[in-house]
Amino acid sequence: MTPDQIQRVRTSHASVALIAAPAAALFYNNLFEADPSLRRLFKGDMAAQGARLMQMIGSAVALLDKPQTLLPVLRMLGARHAGYGVKPAHYATVGGALLKTLEQGLGAAFDEPTREAWTTMYGLVSATMQEAAQPVAV
Ligand code: HEM
Repeated sequence: MTPDQIQRVRTSHASVALIAAPAAALFYNNLFEADPSLRRLFKGDMAAQGARLMQMIGSAVALLDKPQTLLPVLRMLGARHAGYGVKPAHYATVGGALLKTLEQGLGAAFDEPTREAWTTMYGLVSATMQEAAQPVAV
């Protein structure tokens, strides 16, 4: 990611963080509308789950320029997700729901360069998580 993209993700994330709880609720609405079958994967309380998701996105945003710290955290998160029954195709659905939520939450501030910055960031985060979810070949 370019320094400009990192800055855009940070600034827009700070705005979404101010409305974290409704943004998380909106995200899950978007997600389950896109694929209602994903609902069965989530066993816990959705408000708590939403808070964890927003917190993790916040950590990723904060650590974008410290990949040596961020990458191992994402690999462990990805391995846990394989255990939750998450399949590679689900990452695209979640990415779509995330972008839609940002668009709804940020309005005009979610301009084209900001959308590209988030798309790049989500691509990197989800690719790292999915790598870790692959079974190790022996
Ligand atoms: C950028 C990508 C993602 C991030 C940052 C993220 C973040 C998190 C976090 C922080 C947790 C809390 C538990 C833990 O730390 O292991 C969690 C749980 C979970 N995530 Fe994700 N996640 C992502 C992608 C996905 C995708 C693609 C799916 C597929 C639908 C998914 C489904 C779940 C499920 C089912 C749980 C467990 C919920 C439960 O036990 O009720 N996540 N996620």
